[in-house]
Amino acid sequence: MKNRIGFLVELVTNKRLRKDLKAIRIADKGYAFYAFELCKKTGIIKELEKKPRTIDELSKKLKLKNKRMLEAMLDFLVGKKAIKFDGQQYSLTGYIPLPFSLAEQDFVTTQYKGAEDWTLFFYGFAEDSLHYGSKHERTGFDDQQAIELWDSVMVGPLYSLRQIAVKKLLKGLKGGEKIIDYGCGSGTAITEIIERSEKPLEIIGVDISSKMLKMAEQRVKIIKREDIKVKLLKKDLSKKFYFELLFDCAFASILINHIPQNERENFYRKVAENLKPNGKFVLFQLVNRTKFDRIFSDWLLNVVPSHHGFPILNEYISQIKKYFSKVEVLLNGTIVIAYK
Ligand SMILES: C[S@@+](CC[C@H](N)C(=O)[O-])C[C@H]1O[C@@H](n2cnc3c(N)ncnc32)[C@H](O)[C@@H]1O
Repeated sequence: MKNRIGFLVELVTNKRLRKDLKAIRIADKGYAFYAFELCKKTGIIKELEKKPRTIDELSKKLKLKNKRMLEAMLDFLVGKKAIKFDGQQYSLTGYIPLPFSLAEQDFVTTQYKGAEDWTLFFYGFAEDSLHYGSKHERTGFDDQQAIELWDSVMVGPLYSLRQIAVKKLLKGLKGGEKIIDYGCGSGTAITEIIERSEKPLEIIGVDISSKMLKMAEQRVKIIKREDIKVKLLKKDLSKKFYFELLFDCAFASILINHIPQNERENFYRKVAENLKPNGKFVLFQLVNRTKFDRIFSDWLLNVVPSHHGFPILNEYISQIKKYFSKVEVLLNGTIVIAYK
């Protein structure tokens, strides 16, 4: 309850947060429209008009090789009520998702251009990916253009949400703490931690992508602070990992969807093992409320091989609870604060 009130206060006082949430709502409408357009273009709608179909029937009939993408796209449209699912087969509802209005389009293109570019970039590969499968998939976060576009998403609609997570991470620190940023990417969160911290800190950033780490290195150099030490390491977090020291705090921003589903529980366990007693783990993560109530561009991101789907709220929280003694859930799981 206290958290809910805290968020309402944030919502009333933080103009940028209100703007970012509006951009996410508009973008979500856009994703539904794009998904429906793609269904028309690839002949899925025509097939569903004839009769309800299973994923296997659709993919066989239309020679669609990327079943993971097909299912994600249809599930997203079930959540948007354009398609029905009876437990086995998909059928049409008659509702056609509308594109955004001109005013909404204008809002996004003038204020969140990067986020729009990111969507169109991946949409461009989505059709290919459906037809040709993994061969035509993108490399994701080792692709320079994808990295740069991701950065503009982070200064766009996700900015103020992650900012709240960073504030939660820094709250109560006394100075000298060791913080690890799992999946630190191009270092935008590390930069923010450095800029916001009033205390000396040691930060370790870990990521699998060398290109991301290189960008992080350049970023950190620019805002160098004598009292904050930063170390960047290349590691695959979906495998076993171990550090020679224990951390006071851990942070992970939009990383969980890159960890394969069957490795996630292991990941939370490893994070807890690498924390000091009472250590704090703050997660900023796009989360689906249910399998069908998908948010954001989850289906679109199925062109990125390392995207394994945003976690589903209940499962996500119960897995984290297994390894942490106290778990606070904010904004329907978008921000989670877990204490060892
Ligand atoms: C969506 S980006 C988020 C980056 C950053 N945390 C942020 O908030 O901007 C996901 C990051 O996870 C990294 N990643 C994906 N799979 C990984 C893995 N198995 N181990 C470590 N990092 C991984 C990617 O390289 C990418 O930098």
